Amino acid sequence: RLPKFVRMVEVGPRDGLQNEKQIVPTDVKIGLVDRLTDAGLTAIEAGSFVSPKWVPQMADTPDVFAGIRRKPGVRYVALTPNAKGLEGALAAKADEVAVFGAASESFSQKNINCSIAESLERFAPVMEAAKAQGLPVRGYVSCVLGCPYEGEIAPAAVADVAGKLLAMGCYEISLGDTIGTGTPSKAQAMIAAVAERVPMDRIAVHFHDTYGQALANILAALELGVAVVDSSVAGLGGCPYAKGASGNVASEDVLYMLNGLGIDTGVDLDRLVAAGAYISEAIARPTASKVARARGCA
Ligand code: HMG
Ligand code: MG
Repeated sequence: RLPKFVRMVEVGPRDGLQNEKQIVPTDVKIGLVDRLTDAGLTAIEAGSFVSPKWVPQMADTPDVFAGIRRKPGVRYVALTPNAKGLEGALAAKADEVAVFGAASESFSQKNINCSIAESLERFAPVMEAAKAQGLPVRGYVSCVLGCPYEGEIAPAAVADVAGKLLAMGCYEISLGDTIGTGTPSKAQAMIAAVAERVPMDRIAVHFHDTYGQALANILAALELGVAVVDSSVAGLGGCPYAKGASGNVASEDVLYMLNGLGIDTGVDLDRLVAAGAYISEAIARPTASKVARARGCA
């Protein structure tokens, strides 16, 4: 019943590094993306075109895109919340862009300074221009299993936003447990609600590991037929607008589990661990990956 192949979407250089207090030097970001490419990942979020006043850590995204070594077949992705963001992504020659909405009104306000309905209006010109350029657009929904400001979020609210993003032309909807409070049965109920509006093969999951539930939630999602999983090397990150949220589930740990389940990914564990060791050392932060620690990384 489990999928034979899982597409791993690496979000560390964006979701991870956006939350670092220290500004990570551009050449370190480039070094990280290149190592992730070498590990065999085919989708790497390399940055975001957002207001540098809101997220200063992503201000050098154009330089990151200009400096990376691009491997054919790999998509280097950028977040684009509005038309201005899309312009930046086009100039940087991003291979794919992502719009990001939320299932919670308060989080939408804090994160992108507008209501859910307004956010969808802002995404419309992004979708149009991306379509004109043949650029695939991914759609994120945040707070799918809880909101830092509102608490519980109804699965129907998630399904509503996810369905609207799909109808607008997003090729895939990534369901974000932004604060990592979800547990497996809740995750399955939420995914089942979304699957009434979005085909299962268009659903991705994006778990933060704040409460240590991410791997269990991913397995629960795989059991329902989800075959796209977001993760962050070394478990980097959090979210600047979700206080206390820790990083995404570590890519090394996800890969180790998928390998153990006999699920193919095309990603090499040794090289992935090396990429995690590189960034952990560069930012002088211990890795959050248990697999990396078991293999001797500090
Ligand atoms: P706003 O203030 O409503 O927008 O912000 P605005 O259009 O009124 O513009 C205000 C200023 O920002 C202007 O500059 C614009 O030029 C500039 P000023 O005149 O003040 O000098 N601006 C931009 N600059 C660069 N690139 C742009 C851009 N747009 C406007 N694209 C905005 C709206 C969305 C821009 C703002 O709220 C913002 O940048 N927010 C940051 C959101 C963010 O990056 N959050 C983290 C990523 S989401 C996430 O982590 C969740 C996820 O991982 C899934 C999960 O875990 O749940 C995806
Ligand atoms: Mg996230």
